[in-house]
Amino acid sequence: MQIKICLYGFGNVGREFARVLAAKGPYLKARHRIDAKVFAIVTSTGGVVEPRGFSERELSERSRLAHLSSQEGFREGDPEDLSKWILPWIDGAGPTVIVDATWSDLDTGEPGLSRLLKATAMGCHIVTLSKAPLVADFYGLVEAARRHSVQLKFSGATAAGLPTIDTIRVSLAGAEVQSIEGILNSTTNYILTAMSDEGLSYEDALQRTRAMGLAESDPERDVTGIDTACKVLILANAAMNARKRLSDVRITGITGITRRQIATWAMEGRSVKLVGKAALVGDDVRIEVAPAPLPHRDFFAQVREDAKAVRFTTDLFGELVMAGGAGGLTAAAGSALRDLVNLAELFRHRQGGR
Ligand code: HSE
Repeated sequence: MQIKICLYGFGNVGREFARVLAAKGPYLKARHRIDAKVFAIVTSTGGVVEPRGFSERELSERSRLAHLSSQEGFREGDPEDLSKWILPWIDGAGPTVIVDATWSDLDTGEPGLSRLLKATAMGCHIVTLSKAPLVADFYGLVEAARRHSVQLKFSGATAAGLPTIDTIRVSLAGAEVQSIEGILNSTTNYILTAMSDEGLSYEDALQRTRAMGLAESDPERDVTGIDTACKVLILANAAMNARKRLSDVRITGITGITRRQIATWAMEGRSVKLVGKAALVGDDVRIEVAPAPLPHRDFFAQVREDAKAVRFTTDLFGELVMAGGAGGLTAAAGSALRDLVNLAELFRHRQGGR
């Protein structure tokens, strides 16, 4: 099965996606019978297109160069002119997918939100690594995808290496999710672990997460708890039909935590973790993000460095806890790949197994 991809965004995550896709091309063909080809790469000032799809070698070479605008074949143009970048690859011969790895504003979801809504209207499926459009208008996107009979996948926006949304949709199908708790941000977990175990200062620990490629380009989103809030909000809307906005989430980050506090908690047998929680309270869902000093016997207390964890409480299956999954660029890029493989399986199933 051929999947035609329009890749939006060629920053760290977009380039890593191109690299991973090129490297995994032979595996996808041999193991999944998927020929996933990029036809357009688009940034904020224009893009490059290849009507036959970029070969793995070319994609890999392009992924090694930082600036798309100085690469061969770059054409300036409005990235939101989807008739130029996406429409030519929608021809009924297999699905076309936009993989969105761009930055958008968390309040408005723009420019990604309008782009994704327009793409659905063209019959383009969506794999988004960007949280902002989902945060700003989750239900608008879900409804648009439903109306235009396209798929909306976002496993890379909800803790990437840790499979959260797919676990809810597949493994917990049929169950009511009563609460979701998670250590959902690698950067803050790494900082808290390094401050506690190595006695590093907050600034030094933060610097290390930047060097490791864990932190957001604007690490404020990590350390103030906003990134965790976005992830738990998306999960709560998707799994609990919470119908909440980011402004409904009470958020406390880790910026106020001192080494002295960490040492005091350690003497009491506790480790501090930044925990996002969504819980059913009557008919409502309450969502909160805050540092939690947890006793060492608590499973979450053992989740260290850049690892993440999630705990679901359900009516049918009781409590389920998962931990691990890499953080960083490769895991983020790999999540988009996972979404593509799952989409391909779905399309193949619909076509009767071809
Ligand atoms: N900066 C995030 C983290 C990754 O540290 O988990 C993207 O959400």
